[in-house]
Amino acid sequence: MKLNDAYLSRFVSEKELEKIRPEAEAALKKLKEGTGEGSDFIGWRDLPVSYDREEFARVKRAAERIRKNSDVLVVIGIGGSYLGARAAIEFVKGNLHNRLNKNAPEIYYCGNSISGPALEGILSICREKDFSVNVISKSGTTTEPAVAFRLFLALAKEKYGDAAKERIYATTDKSRGTLKSFADREGWETFCVPDDVGGRYSVLTAVGLLPIAAAGVDIDALMAGAAAARERYYVAGGFNDCLRYAAYRNLLLRAGKSVEILSTYEPSLALLSEWWKQLYGESEGKEGKGLYPSSVVFSTDLHSLGQYIQEGQRILFETVIDLGKSGSNLAVSYDGENADGLNFLAGKTFDEVNRTAMVATILAHTDGGVPNLVLEVPDRSAASLGELIYFFELACAVSGYILGVNPFNQPGVEAYKKNMFALLGKPGYEELGRSLAERMDGSLRQM
Ligand code: PA5
Repeated sequence: MKLNDAYLSRFVSEKELEKIRPEAEAALKKLKEGTGEGSDFIGWRDLPVSYDREEFARVKRAAERIRKNSDVLVVIGIGGSYLGARAAIEFVKGNLHNRLNKNAPEIYYCGNSISGPALEGILSICREKDFSVNVISKSGTTTEPAVAFRLFLALAKEKYGDAAKERIYATTDKSRGTLKSFADREGWETFCVPDDVGGRYSVLTAVGLLPIAAAGVDIDALMAGAAAARERYYVAGGFNDCLRYAAYRNLLLRAGKSVEILSTYEPSLALLSEWWKQLYGESEGKEGKGLYPSSVVFSTDLHSLGQYIQEGQRILFETVIDLGKSGSNLAVSYDGENADGLNFLAGKTFDEVNRTAMVATILAHTDGGVPNLVLEVPDRSAASLGELIYFFELACAVSGYILGVNPFNQPGVEAYKKNMFALLGKPGYEELGRSLAERMDGSLRQM
Protein backbone atom coordinates (compact mmCIF):
# COMPACT_ATOMS: atom_id res chain seq x y z
CA MET A 1 0.00 0.00 0.00
CA LYS A 2 1.19 3.50 -0.71
CA LEU A 3 -0.09 7.01 -0.11
CA ASN A 4 0.32 8.98 -3.31
CA ASP A 5 0.22 12.71 -2.61
CA ALA A 6 1.33 13.83 -6.08
CA TYR A 7 -2.03 15.46 -6.80
CA LEU A 8 -1.97 17.39 -3.55
CA SER A 9 1.09 19.54 -4.15
CA ARG A 10 -0.83 22.55 -5.41
CA PHE A 11 -3.00 22.56 -2.29
CA VAL A 12 -0.57 21.66 0.50
CA SER A 13 3.11 22.60 0.52
CA GLU A 14 5.97 20.47 1.85
CA LYS A 15 6.59 23.28 4.32
CA GLU A 16 3.08 23.02 5.76
CA LEU A 17 3.42 19.26 5.98
CA GLU A 18 6.72 19.52 7.81
CA LYS A 19 5.15 22.04 10.17
CA ILE A 20 2.41 19.65 11.28
CA ARG A 21 4.73 16.65 11.42
CA PRO A 22 5.63 17.10 15.13
CA GLU A 23 1.91 17.05 15.97
CA ALA A 24 1.47 13.73 14.15
CA GLU A 25 4.51 12.25 15.82
CA ALA A 26 3.38 13.48 19.23
CA ALA A 27 -0.02 11.89 18.60
CA LEU A 28 1.59 8.54 17.77
CA LYS A 29 3.76 8.79 20.88
CA LYS A 30 0.68 9.41 23.02
CA LEU A 31 -0.96 6.38 21.51
CA LYS A 32 2.08 4.21 22.07
CA GLU A 33 2.49 5.34 25.65
CA GLY A 34 -1.22 5.18 26.39
CA THR A 35 -1.24 8.73 27.72
CA GLY A 36 -3.90 10.19 25.42
CA GLU A 37 -7.61 10.51 26.07
CA GLY A 38 -9.55 7.26 25.82
CA SER A 39 -6.52 5.10 26.53
CA ASP A 40 -8.78 2.41 28.00
CA PHE A 41 -9.76 1.61 24.44
CA ILE A 42 -6.51 1.14 22.60
CA GLY A 43 -6.36 -2.65 22.66
CA TRP A 44 -6.81 -2.68 18.86
CA ARG A 45 -3.19 -1.42 18.45
CA ASP A 46 -1.75 -4.84 19.26
CA LEU A 47 -4.56 -7.14 18.18
CA PRO A 48 -2.84 -8.30 14.96
CA VAL A 49 -0.02 -9.81 17.03
CA SER A 50 -1.55 -10.49 20.42
CA TYR A 51 -4.98 -11.82 19.54
CA ASP A 52 -6.39 -14.71 21.55
CA ARG A 53 -5.18 -17.80 19.63
CA GLU A 54 -7.55 -20.17 21.39
CA GLU A 55 -10.56 -18.05 20.50
CA PHE A 56 -9.27 -17.58 16.96
CA ALA A 57 -9.21 -21.38 16.54
CA ARG A 58 -12.75 -21.57 17.93
CA VAL A 59 -13.87 -18.91 15.47
CA LYS A 60 -12.53 -21.03 12.62
CA ARG A 61 -14.27 -24.16 13.91
CA ALA A 62 -17.57 -22.32 14.35
CA ALA A 63 -17.26 -20.84 10.86
CA GLU A 64 -16.68 -24.32 9.44
CA ARG A 65 -19.75 -25.63 11.27
CA ILE A 66 -21.87 -22.78 9.92
CA ARG A 67 -20.60 -23.43 6.40
CA LYS A 68 -21.56 -27.11 6.76
CA ASN A 69 -24.97 -26.87 8.37
CA SER A 70 -26.36 -23.55 7.13
CA ASP A 71 -27.48 -22.07 3.83
CA VAL A 72 -27.85 -18.70 5.51
CA LEU A 73 -26.00 -16.84 8.24
CA VAL A 74 -27.90 -13.97 9.83
CA VAL A 75 -25.53 -11.40 11.32
CA ILE A 76 -27.33 -9.25 13.87
CA GLY A 77 -25.55 -6.09 14.99
CA ILE A 78 -25.26 -2.37 14.43
CA GLY A 79 -22.43 0.14 13.96
CA GLY A 80 -19.11 -1.35 14.93
CA SER A 81 -20.83 -4.66 15.55
CA TYR A 82 -21.81 -4.98 11.91
CA LEU A 83 -20.01 -2.74 9.44
CA GLY A 84 -16.53 -4.26 9.62
CA ALA A 85 -17.69 -7.79 8.86
CA ARG A 86 -19.81 -6.69 5.93
CA ALA A 87 -17.11 -4.40 4.56
CA ALA A 88 -14.55 -7.20 4.69
CA ILE A 89 -16.80 -9.83 3.14
CA GLU A 90 -17.79 -7.58 0.24
CA PHE A 91 -14.22 -6.34 -0.24
CA VAL A 92 -12.85 -9.87 -0.70
CA LYS A 93 -15.83 -11.85 -1.97
CA GLY A 94 -17.63 -9.14 -3.91
CA ASN A 95 -21.00 -7.50 -3.43
CA LEU A 96 -22.75 -10.41 -5.17
CA HIS A 97 -21.27 -13.01 -2.83
CA ASN A 98 -24.69 -14.31 -1.81
CA ARG A 99 -25.18 -15.61 -5.37
CA LEU A 100 -21.62 -16.30 -6.42
CA ASN A 101 -19.65 -17.36 -3.34
CA LYS A 102 -19.87 -21.14 -3.62
CA ASN A 103 -19.55 -23.36 -0.52
CA ALA A 104 -20.38 -20.46 1.75
CA PRO A 105 -23.68 -19.46 3.31
CA GLU A 106 -25.63 -16.49 2.07
CA ILE A 107 -25.13 -13.73 4.62
CA TYR A 108 -27.84 -11.26 5.63
CA TYR A 109 -27.51 -8.42 8.08
CA CYS A 110 -30.15 -7.14 10.43
CA GLY A 111 -30.46 -5.25 13.67
CA ASN A 112 -28.87 -2.28 11.92
CA SER A 113 -32.27 -0.72 11.25
CA ILE A 114 -35.75 -1.00 12.74
CA SER A 115 -37.36 -1.65 9.40
CA GLY A 116 -40.20 -4.16 9.52
CA PRO A 117 -40.00 -4.99 5.79
CA ALA A 118 -36.22 -5.55 5.99
CA LEU A 119 -36.67 -7.98 8.89
CA GLU A 120 -39.62 -9.75 7.31
CA GLY A 121 -37.60 -10.31 4.15
CA ILE A 122 -34.77 -12.02 6.00
CA LEU A 123 -37.17 -14.00 8.19
CA SER A 124 -38.94 -15.32 5.11
CA ILE A 125 -35.61 -16.46 3.64
CA CYS A 126 -34.79 -18.22 6.91
CA ARG A 127 -38.13 -20.03 6.94
CA GLU A 128 -37.16 -21.72 3.67
CA LYS A 129 -33.49 -22.45 4.38
CA ASP A 130 -31.25 -23.77 7.11
CA PHE A 131 -29.82 -20.87 9.03
CA SER A 132 -27.51 -19.89 11.86
CA VAL A 133 -27.39 -16.61 13.74
CA ASN A 134 -24.45 -14.56 14.94
CA VAL A 135 -25.76 -11.92 17.32
CA ILE A 136 -23.12 -9.30 18.03
CA SER A 137 -23.35 -6.61 20.69
CA LYS A 138 -20.54 -5.50 22.95
CA SER A 139 -22.89 -3.87 25.45
CA GLY A 140 -25.48 -6.58 24.95
CA THR A 141 -28.23 -4.02 25.38
CA THR A 142 -28.49 -2.15 22.06
CA THR A 143 -32.17 -2.00 21.12
CA GLU A 144 -32.01 -2.48 17.35
CA PRO A 145 -30.11 -5.78 17.36
CA ALA A 146 -31.86 -6.99 20.53
CA VAL A 147 -35.36 -6.70 19.05
CA ALA A 148 -34.25 -8.29 15.78
CA PHE A 149 -32.64 -11.16 17.70
CA ARG A 150 -35.92 -11.91 19.50
CA LEU A 151 -37.49 -12.75 16.16
CA PHE A 152 -34.68 -14.95 14.86
CA LEU A 153 -34.32 -16.75 18.16
CA ALA A 154 -38.03 -17.54 18.16
CA LEU A 155 -37.83 -18.78 14.56
CA ALA A 156 -34.77 -20.92 15.31
CA LYS A 157 -36.52 -22.49 18.31
CA GLU A 158 -39.68 -23.11 16.30
CA LYS A 159 -37.70 -24.70 13.47
CA TYR A 160 -34.96 -26.61 15.28
CA GLY A 161 -36.35 -27.06 18.82
CA ASP A 162 -33.60 -27.73 21.35
CA ALA A 163 -31.02 -28.01 18.54
CA ALA A 164 -31.48 -24.27 17.93
CA LYS A 165 -28.77 -23.68 20.48
CA GLU A 166 -26.23 -25.26 18.11
CA ARG A 167 -27.01 -22.52 15.61
CA ILE A 168 -26.78 -19.41 17.74
CA TYR A 169 -23.44 -17.68 18.27
CA ALA A 170 -23.24 -14.65 20.55
CA THR A 171 -20.34 -12.20 20.33
CA THR A 172 -20.37 -9.92 23.35
CA ASP A 173 -18.58 -8.81 26.49
CA LYS A 174 -16.69 -11.61 28.23
CA SER A 175 -18.65 -11.40 31.45
CA ARG A 176 -21.14 -8.50 31.53
CA GLY A 177 -24.43 -7.60 29.90
CA THR A 178 -27.81 -9.09 29.12
CA LEU A 179 -26.62 -10.95 26.04
CA LYS A 180 -23.80 -12.68 27.91
CA SER A 181 -26.08 -13.93 30.68
CA PHE A 182 -28.75 -14.90 28.14
CA ALA A 183 -26.15 -16.88 26.15
CA ASP A 184 -24.80 -18.65 29.22
CA ARG A 185 -28.30 -19.58 30.34
CA GLU A 186 -29.27 -20.94 26.91
CA GLY A 187 -25.95 -22.66 26.18
CA TRP A 188 -24.98 -20.77 23.01
CA GLU A 189 -21.36 -20.60 22.00
CA THR A 190 -19.98 -17.16 22.87
CA PHE A 191 -17.12 -15.09 21.56
CA CYS A 192 -15.65 -12.08 23.24
CA VAL A 193 -15.29 -8.40 22.44
CA PRO A 194 -12.21 -7.40 24.45
CA ASP A 195 -12.82 -4.73 27.10
CA ASP A 196 -10.19 -2.43 25.62
CA VAL A 197 -11.49 -2.50 22.02
CA GLY A 198 -14.39 -0.22 21.09
CA GLY A 199 -17.00 -1.25 18.53
CA ARG A 200 -15.65 0.61 15.51
CA TYR A 201 -12.14 -0.74 16.12
CA SER A 202 -13.34 -4.32 16.60
CA VAL A 203 -13.34 -5.82 13.11
CA LEU A 204 -10.22 -7.87 13.84
CA THR A 205 -11.81 -9.47 16.93
CA ALA A 206 -14.47 -12.19 16.85
CA VAL A 207 -16.95 -9.37 16.06
CA GLY A 208 -15.71 -9.34 12.49
CA LEU A 209 -13.80 -12.58 12.29
CA LEU A 210 -16.65 -15.07 12.72
CA PRO A 211 -18.83 -13.79 9.86
CA ILE A 212 -15.74 -13.09 7.75
CA ALA A 213 -14.46 -16.65 8.22
CA ALA A 214 -17.94 -18.08 7.59
CA ALA A 215 -17.86 -16.31 4.22
CA GLY A 216 -14.67 -18.21 3.40
CA VAL A 217 -12.24 -15.31 3.73
CA ASP A 218 -8.77 -16.36 4.90
CA ILE A 219 -8.62 -14.79 8.37
CA ASP A 220 -4.99 -15.84 8.89
CA ALA A 221 -4.04 -13.74 5.86
CA LEU A 222 -6.23 -10.89 7.12
CA MET A 223 -4.41 -10.83 10.47
CA ALA A 224 -1.03 -11.19 8.76
CA GLY A 225 -1.80 -8.15 6.59
CA ALA A 226 -2.79 -6.17 9.68
CA ALA A 227 0.36 -7.30 11.49
CA ALA A 228 2.51 -6.12 8.58
CA ALA A 229 0.77 -2.73 8.70
CA ARG A 230 1.29 -2.52 12.45
CA GLU A 231 5.00 -3.12 11.92
CA ARG A 232 5.25 -0.57 9.09
CA TYR A 233 3.14 2.25 10.47
CA TYR A 234 2.96 1.80 14.25
CA VAL A 235 6.15 0.07 15.34
CA ALA A 236 8.53 1.66 12.81
CA GLY A 237 7.19 5.17 13.48
CA GLY A 238 8.73 8.03 11.47
CA PHE A 239 6.63 10.26 9.24
CA ASN A 240 5.25 7.26 7.37
CA ASP A 241 2.25 7.15 4.99
CA CYS A 242 -0.21 6.53 7.79
CA LEU A 243 0.92 9.54 9.80
CA ARG A 244 1.08 11.63 6.65
CA TYR A 245 -2.53 10.75 5.87
CA ALA A 246 -3.56 11.83 9.39
CA ALA A 247 -1.52 15.01 9.00
CA TYR A 248 -2.95 15.89 5.58
CA ARG A 249 -6.51 15.47 6.83
CA ASN A 250 -5.90 17.96 9.62
CA LEU A 251 -4.09 20.42 7.35
CA LEU A 252 -6.93 20.34 4.86
CA LEU A 253 -9.49 20.80 7.62
CA ARG A 254 -7.59 23.82 8.91
CA ALA A 255 -7.60 25.19 5.35
CA GLY A 256 -11.41 25.08 5.30
CA LYS A 257 -11.95 21.68 3.69
CA SER A 258 -14.50 20.33 6.14
CA VAL A 259 -15.72 17.31 4.15
CA GLU A 260 -13.60 14.30 3.25
CA ILE A 261 -14.96 12.05 0.54
CA LEU A 262 -13.70 8.49 0.28
CA SER A 263 -13.87 7.75 -3.43
CA THR A 264 -13.81 4.21 -4.77
CA TYR A 265 -14.26 2.80 -8.23
CA GLU A 266 -15.51 -0.66 -7.22
CA PRO A 267 -19.05 -1.39 -5.98
CA SER A 268 -17.53 -4.13 -3.81
CA LEU A 269 -15.79 -1.42 -1.80
CA ALA A 270 -18.97 0.52 -1.02
CA LEU A 271 -19.30 -1.11 2.40
CA LEU A 272 -15.66 -0.45 3.18
CA SER A 273 -16.59 3.21 2.84
CA GLU A 274 -19.50 2.73 5.24
CA TRP A 275 -17.13 1.18 7.78
CA TRP A 276 -14.63 4.02 7.22
CA LYS A 277 -17.38 6.64 7.69
CA GLN A 278 -18.36 5.17 11.05
CA LEU A 279 -14.73 4.91 12.13
CA TYR A 280 -13.95 8.54 11.35
CA GLY A 281 -17.38 10.04 12.05
CA GLU A 282 -17.73 8.59 15.55
CA SER A 283 -14.07 9.12 16.37
CA GLU A 284 -13.71 12.74 15.32
CA GLY A 285 -17.14 14.33 15.12
CA LYS A 286 -17.46 15.86 18.57
CA GLU A 287 -17.05 19.14 20.47
CA GLY A 288 -17.99 21.01 17.29
CA LYS A 289 -14.92 19.62 15.54
CA GLY A 290 -13.98 17.11 12.88
CA LEU A 291 -14.17 16.43 9.18
CA TYR A 292 -17.50 15.18 7.90
CA PRO A 293 -16.75 11.77 6.34
CA SER A 294 -18.63 11.10 3.15
CA SER A 295 -18.25 8.58 0.34
CA VAL A 296 -18.92 7.98 -3.32
CA VAL A 297 -18.71 5.01 -5.65
CA PHE A 298 -17.63 6.04 -9.11
CA SER A 299 -18.63 5.90 -11.96
CA THR A 300 -22.19 5.83 -10.64
CA ASP A 301 -21.72 8.94 -8.48
CA LEU A 302 -19.92 10.81 -11.25
CA HIS A 303 -23.40 11.07 -12.71
CA SER A 304 -24.87 12.36 -9.49
CA LEU A 305 -22.62 13.84 -6.77
CA GLY A 306 -19.88 14.37 -9.35
CA GLN A 307 -21.50 17.65 -10.33
CA TYR A 308 -21.31 18.94 -6.76
CA ILE A 309 -17.75 17.74 -6.32
CA GLN A 310 -16.69 19.49 -9.52
CA GLU A 311 -18.48 22.79 -9.00
CA GLY A 312 -20.25 23.02 -5.64
CA GLN A 313 -19.01 24.60 -2.41
CA ARG A 314 -15.23 24.31 -2.21
CA ILE A 315 -15.25 22.60 1.18
CA LEU A 316 -14.31 19.15 -0.05
CA PHE A 317 -11.30 16.97 -0.47
CA GLU A 318 -11.12 13.40 -1.68
CA THR A 319 -9.23 10.34 -0.56
CA VAL A 320 -9.26 8.02 -3.54
CA ILE A 321 -8.80 4.28 -3.20
CA ASP A 322 -6.72 3.27 -6.21
CA LEU A 323 -7.21 -0.48 -6.44
CA GLY A 324 -4.38 -2.11 -8.40
CA LYS A 325 -6.13 -5.33 -9.36
CA SER A 326 -9.85 -5.82 -9.09
CA GLY A 327 -9.58 -9.59 -9.62
CA SER A 328 -11.16 -9.52 -13.07
CA ASN A 329 -9.58 -9.69 -16.54
CA LEU A 330 -12.80 -8.92 -18.35
CA ALA A 331 -12.15 -6.90 -21.51
CA VAL A 332 -14.31 -4.79 -23.83
CA SER A 333 -15.42 -6.93 -26.76
CA TYR A 334 -14.85 -6.19 -30.47
CA ASP A 335 -17.89 -5.51 -32.65
CA GLY A 336 -17.50 -5.98 -36.41
CA GLU A 337 -20.13 -3.34 -37.17
CA ASN A 338 -18.80 -0.84 -34.63
CA ALA A 339 -22.31 0.58 -34.56
CA ASP A 340 -21.64 2.29 -31.21
CA GLY A 341 -18.22 3.58 -32.29
CA LEU A 342 -16.55 1.95 -29.29
CA ASN A 343 -14.06 -0.30 -31.06
CA PHE A 344 -11.27 2.01 -29.91
CA LEU A 345 -11.84 0.39 -26.51
CA ALA A 346 -11.94 -3.21 -27.78
CA GLY A 347 -9.41 -5.45 -26.07
CA LYS A 348 -8.86 -3.07 -23.15
CA THR A 349 -9.68 -4.62 -19.80
CA PHE A 350 -12.35 -3.01 -17.67
CA ASP A 351 -9.63 -2.48 -15.04
CA GLU A 352 -7.69 -0.36 -17.55
CA VAL A 353 -10.74 1.69 -18.53
CA ASN A 354 -11.78 2.08 -14.89
CA ARG A 355 -8.30 3.27 -13.93
CA THR A 356 -8.34 5.76 -16.79
CA ALA A 357 -11.68 7.04 -15.50
CA MET A 358 -10.06 7.42 -12.09
CA VAL A 359 -7.07 9.41 -13.37
CA ALA A 360 -9.33 11.55 -15.58
CA THR A 361 -11.56 12.27 -12.59
CA ILE A 362 -8.69 13.09 -10.25
CA LEU A 363 -7.37 15.59 -12.80
CA ALA A 364 -10.80 17.13 -13.33
CA HIS A 365 -11.57 17.38 -9.62
CA THR A 366 -8.19 18.87 -8.71
CA ASP A 367 -8.67 21.38 -11.55
CA GLY A 368 -12.00 22.16 -9.91
CA GLY A 369 -10.27 22.98 -6.61
CA VAL A 370 -10.77 19.67 -4.82
CA PRO A 371 -7.56 18.30 -3.31
CA ASN A 372 -7.11 14.57 -4.02
CA LEU A 373 -5.06 12.16 -1.97
CA VAL A 374 -4.62 8.69 -3.44
CA LEU A 375 -4.26 5.51 -1.45
CA GLU A 376 -2.86 2.74 -3.61
CA VAL A 377 -4.18 -0.66 -2.56
CA PRO A 378 -2.66 -3.56 -4.53
CA ASP A 379 -5.63 -5.91 -4.71
CA ARG A 380 -8.71 -7.30 -2.98
CA SER A 381 -6.89 -10.01 -1.05
CA ALA A 382 -7.51 -10.62 2.64
CA ALA A 383 -3.92 -9.55 3.36
CA SER A 384 -4.33 -6.19 1.60
CA LEU A 385 -7.58 -5.67 3.45
CA GLY A 386 -5.88 -6.37 6.78
CA GLU A 387 -3.28 -3.76 5.96
CA LEU A 388 -5.91 -1.25 4.91
CA ILE A 389 -7.98 -1.78 8.06
CA TYR A 390 -5.01 -1.22 10.34
CA PHE A 391 -3.85 1.77 8.29
CA PHE A 392 -7.23 3.48 8.66
CA GLU A 393 -7.60 2.63 12.36
CA LEU A 394 -4.17 3.96 13.25
CA ALA A 395 -4.56 7.05 11.08
CA CYS A 396 -7.92 7.72 12.72
CA ALA A 397 -6.50 7.58 16.23
CA VAL A 398 -3.53 9.79 15.29
CA SER A 399 -5.77 12.21 13.41
CA GLY A 400 -8.17 12.44 16.36
CA TYR A 401 -5.34 13.29 18.73
CA ILE A 402 -4.02 15.94 16.33
CA LEU A 403 -7.54 17.35 16.21
CA GLY A 404 -7.68 17.41 19.99
CA VAL A 405 -10.55 14.99 20.65
CA ASN A 406 -10.91 11.62 22.31
CA PRO A 407 -11.11 9.31 19.27
CA PHE A 408 -12.44 6.37 21.28
CA ASN A 409 -15.73 7.56 22.72
CA GLN A 410 -19.08 8.40 21.11
CA PRO A 411 -21.07 10.40 23.66
CA GLY A 412 -23.32 11.88 20.98
CA VAL A 413 -24.86 8.52 20.11
CA GLU A 414 -26.75 8.53 23.42
CA ALA A 415 -28.96 11.52 22.61
CA TYR A 416 -31.27 9.78 20.16
CA LYS A 417 -31.39 6.65 22.33
CA LYS A 418 -32.70 8.55 25.36
CA ASN A 419 -35.37 10.26 23.29
CA MET A 420 -36.40 7.02 21.64
CA PHE A 421 -36.69 5.20 24.97
CA ALA A 422 -38.69 8.08 26.43
CA LEU A 423 -41.08 8.16 23.48
CA LEU A 424 -41.48 4.38 23.50
CA GLY A 425 -42.37 4.46 27.20
CA LYS A 426 -39.35 2.70 28.67
CA PRO A 427 -39.68 2.69 32.46
CA GLY A 428 -37.51 5.38 34.04
CA TYR A 429 -37.84 7.81 31.14
CA GLU A 430 -41.30 9.21 31.99
CA GLU A 431 -40.29 12.80 32.63
CA LEU A 432 -38.24 13.12 29.46
CA GLY A 433 -41.15 11.49 27.61
CA ARG A 434 -43.54 14.18 28.83
CA SER A 435 -41.24 17.05 27.87
CA LEU A 436 -40.58 15.58 24.41
CA ALA A 437 -44.29 15.02 23.87
CA GLU A 438 -44.89 18.75 24.30
CA ARG A 439 -42.37 19.49 21.54
CA MET A 440 -43.67 16.92 19.06
CA ASP A 441 -45.72 17.77 16.01
CA GLY A 442 -48.23 15.00 16.63
CA SER A 443 -46.97 12.73 13.88
CA LEU A 444 -46.35 9.86 16.30
CA ARG A 445 -49.85 10.05 17.67
CA GLN A 446 -51.24 9.76 14.16
CA MET A 447 -49.72 6.28 13.66
O1 PA5 B 1 -18.28 2.13 17.74
C1 PA5 B 1 -19.10 1.87 18.60
O2 PA5 B 1 -18.77 1.64 19.76
C2 PA5 B 1 -20.57 1.79 18.26
O3 PA5 B 1 -20.80 2.02 16.93
C3 PA5 B 1 -21.12 0.42 18.61
O4 PA5 B 1 -20.38 -0.54 17.90
C4 PA5 B 1 -22.59 0.29 18.28
O5 PA5 B 1 -23.29 1.30 18.94
C5 PA5 B 1 -23.11 -1.06 18.71
O6 PA5 B 1 -22.95 -1.24 20.08
P1 PA5 B 1 -23.04 -2.66 20.73
O7 PA5 B 1 -22.01 -3.52 20.13
O8 PA5 B 1 -22.82 -2.43 22.19
O9 PA5 B 1 -24.43 -3.20 20.45
